[in-house]
Amino acid sequence: MHTMNRRTFLKGAAAGVGALMLPQTALAVRNLPTAGDIAFRFAVAGDLHYAIGDYTEHAENMVRWFNEEREDRGLDLVFLNGDIVHDVTDRYDELIENYLTRLEMPYYATKGNHDFLEDDQSWEGIWGYPADHVVEEGDMAFVFADTSRHDDRSNHYSAADSVWMEETLAGLAGKEHVFVVLHIAQRMEGVKVDNHIWPRYGVGHQDPARAEEGERVMQSLENAPNVKAVFHGHNHYEAGLYLSKGKPFFFCSRIGHTFGNAIGYRIVEIYGDGTAATYQYDPNSGRMVTNHEIPL
Ligand SMILES: [Fe+2]
Repeated sequence: MHTMNRRTFLKGAAAGVGALMLPQTALAVRNLPTAGDIAFRFAVAGDLHYAIGDYTEHAENMVRWFNEEREDRGLDLVFLNGDIVHDVTDRYDELIENYLTRLEMPYYATKGNHDFLEDDQSWEGIWGYPADHVVEEGDMAFVFADTSRHDDRSNHYSAADSVWMEETLAGLAGKEHVFVVLHIAQRMEGVKVDNHIWPRYGVGHQDPARAEEGERVMQSLENAPNVKAVFHGHNHYEAGLYLSKGKPFFFCSRIGHTFGNAIGYRIVEIYGDGTAATYQYDPNSGRMVTNHEIPL
C-alpha cells in the first residue's frame, strides 16, 4: 500500500480528471473496484468512549478490525475521530499501551467533547501533536481540529478555530486533495442547505451563539476547492452523507459506547484512476451500510 509508484500514479491520474459536476443533493453509489486498483485507503472511526460500557471489548475489536482491514484491502491510515475516552483524564496511557500500539498502521487522534484533559495535560503531550494539526501524505493532506475548545473538563461543543482553519487551508492550496476530520459537525441542527436539514448535536446545540463561528468554519471548508470531503463523528445516530454547496460531509456512527446506530467505521478508498469512494461498514454483520463516490 505504501509504494511511491502508486502515489505518483495517483497524482498524475487525478490531474487529468478535472472538475466533476455534482448533483446538489446526492452522490453516486458505486461498485468497489478490486483491491489492486487502490492507491490509498484510510479509515475514520469516531466515539470509542474508552471508560464506559464494554469499552475494553470495543477497543479490542477496533484493533482487530483495522489490522484485518490492512491484511484484506489494505489500510494506510486510521483517524480516531474524537470521544476516544469518556470523561476521564487518566486512561489515555492505558488505551495507547494496551490497544493502540497494536495497530499495524499509523493512526491519529482528533479531540472530542468527552476527551477531558487536566490543566497539566495537553493533547500534544498525550499524542505527540496538537489538537489542531495537519498530516501530509504526498499530494494529500489531512486536517483535523479541536471542536471542544476552551473547557477541557466539561462536555463542551464548539466550532473549530475558524481563523486557524482558514489560514491552514490557504497554506494547503497547493495540495491535490485535502480531507478534513472534525469530531463535531460545524452546522447547527435544523439548518437547511442544499435540501439537507442538518442533524442534531452540531455546533450551537448547547449554545446557539457558537453557531456563528461554526458557519465561518463551514465557509472555509466550502470555499477550498481541494477540500474533497469532511468527516464527522459525535452523532452516534448518523452514518450517512450531508452535502453543503456540493461538498460532502460524512458521518461514521460509532466504534464504541452503549447507544446509537450499529457500531462501525467509515472506509475511504482512493483509486489509481483518480476516483474515490467511501462507505460505512458494520463489521459485526459484515454489511456495507452506505457507499458513495467522492468526486475528486
Ligand atoms: Fe462527541
